[in-house]
Amino acid sequence: TCQSPAPSREELFGIVEPKAPEWHKENGYWLRSEVYDDFKRMQEAAYKDSVNLYIVSAFRSFDRQKTIWERKWNSAERSHMEPVERARHILRYSSMPTTSRHHWGTDVDLNSVEFKYFFSKEGNRVLQWLYDHAAEYNFFRPYTEGRPKGYMPEPWHWSHRTSERFLETYLQTVSDTDIKGFEGADTADTLNIIEYWVKLD
Ligand code: DAL
Repeated sequence: TCQSPAPSREELFGIVEPKAPEWHKENGYWLRSEVYDDFKRMQEAAYKDSVNLYIVSAFRSFDRQKTIWERKWNSAERSHMEPVERARHILRYSSMPTTSRHHWGTDVDLNSVEFKYFFSKEGNRVLQWLYDHAAEYNFFRPYTEGRPKGYMPEPWHWSHRTSERFLETYLQTVSDTDIKGFEGADTADTLNIIEYWVKLD
């Protein structure tokens, strides 16, 4: 089979400007074209089963993730927390810039980022359909229930198999001290961020 070159450091960290034809924009969200193609096939199959799948987040750049992270870092809710505790608190649901799978253009959030949606009748049906069929379209859930470390479970977060190439290169080439360029970045090394939040097992 044809092997694509290993992702660059910029691609791993979301320091890219997505463009056609390597990328495709759906509803304002960019995905890598091979991911988009599989998503589209999955969405059409779901639709035939009366299940609506829609993207609520896909590619996020370093800068976008930095905005999200720093808003949380500086929120009043966390102002009493020491840096490491503050980072851990944010890391329940949000990645440090440079460590998000959303940088890769291989991962999507589907339908809602609220737990209560996935406990609703509709949300439950959507999730069950994805459990039954997502693998046929090369999608899997990276942040499942019962993992001993890392993020809280995310029923909305689905990743395309092509992300494996990104993760592999990431784990081979990036170290905790490469994680920088945003407020609170100096907690990354103490937290052992790659071991606990980037690795999946
Ligand atoms: N919500 C996931 C963990 C992210 O921010 O990449």
